[in-house]
Amino acid sequence: MIITSQAKTESLSEAFDKLSLRESLNSNLESILEIVKNRYSDIGRISVAMYDEHNDSLKSYLSSAGINEPLSHLEISLDNFQEIHCLKKTSSSRIIRDFESEPENAIANKLIKEGYLSSYIVPIFDNKKFLGIISFSSFNKSRFAHYRTRAQIDLAAKLVAFLTINELYAIQGLQGTAKTLKDVAALRDNETGEHLERMSRYSRHIARHLAQSHGLDDEFIEDLYLCAPLHDIGKIAIPDKILLKPGALTDDEFSEMQKHTIYGKEIIDKALINLQIAGKPFSKLLSNIVFFHHENWDGTGYPSKLVGKDIPLEARIIRVADVYDALTSERPYKKAWSQSEALDYLQVESGKLFDSHCVDAAAACAGVFKKIKAEFSDKPYE
Ligand SMILES: [Fe+2]
Ligand SMILES: [Fe+2]
Repeated sequence: MIITSQAKTESLSEAFDKLSLRESLNSNLESILEIVKNRYSDIGRISVAMYDEHNDSLKSYLSSAGINEPLSHLEISLDNFQEIHCLKKTSSSRIIRDFESEPENAIANKLIKEGYLSSYIVPIFDNKKFLGIISFSSFNKSRFAHYRTRAQIDLAAKLVAFLTINELYAIQGLQGTAKTLKDVAALRDNETGEHLERMSRYSRHIARHLAQSHGLDDEFIEDLYLCAPLHDIGKIAIPDKILLKPGALTDDEFSEMQKHTIYGKEIIDKALINLQIAGKPFSKLLSNIVFFHHENWDGTGYPSKLVGKDIPLEARIIRVADVYDALTSERPYKKAWSQSEALDYLQVESGKLFDSHCVDAAAACAGVFKKIKAEFSDKPYE
């Protein structure tokens, strides 16, 4: 019996070794699920939720079900999630044998609706740092009760954790590189750290609002949030006399300033190669944000004068979030606009400068935008 078990363990492990990675983490998760299903046909779902230290919450991130994931676009405070709080503390896995025994549990109820009856939850840690959780769900009760089953599933969990950590650190590595570049170049523009924090969060909320109508999964939304702070990286190549000029720019200066999108793409392309992360799933999205975030819906933007839906959605979202934050922030040369003034401006330019769906989403998120603004407020200019 023991020999059989070892052989089975090896065969699952061998199957994972042969796994060829695909273009997104969600599709990799799908492939891993296929391998798991060959052995346990009743396991129908693998998902990953990431931990947000800032809010002490878990955000849905990846799912083998892609846009059909029953628990997508969720952000849950660990205060309301004592089991996960405990799992984070003890760094041990958790088995939920029967969702039907937890009638009050809203998450269990959502999974029951899809036919799932039990789950196995594995925490993701890196160097004792809690990063999130991986969940496996089965259509059978008590599927994960036996330790031998869990030993098999742990192999899949290790692979999922590896892929997730790799992706996360690749983006963080890029963010670190961007920060170093800015520090070395002593870049002093008006884009504060708080601006980047706020506009990234605004982008995430706009994307969540568009998720259903535009078929966006949590992987897209989270990558958008993580890559958003890099949108203006190309400004490090713009001379200070233009970047920091207090008055209006001449035509020549303005056309040089516009090149920050082109310089940004060059910097990102080089950084992706130098950091050996060029093929990562997020790289296309990042490149689109950096290159296209000044394109206008009506084709009057730069650098490519793309029109409407030819502008990648990620860049259309960033455009609205970035402008909204610039308007509602104080600058040395202007006062901050009120929220309603800024939303009115977006509405006036909706369908001209901005994608009307993104403008409507921003208006719908007015309440949460206000909270973000209060939480990440700029230090006043002296
Ligand atoms: Fe820009
Ligand atoms: Fe910006």
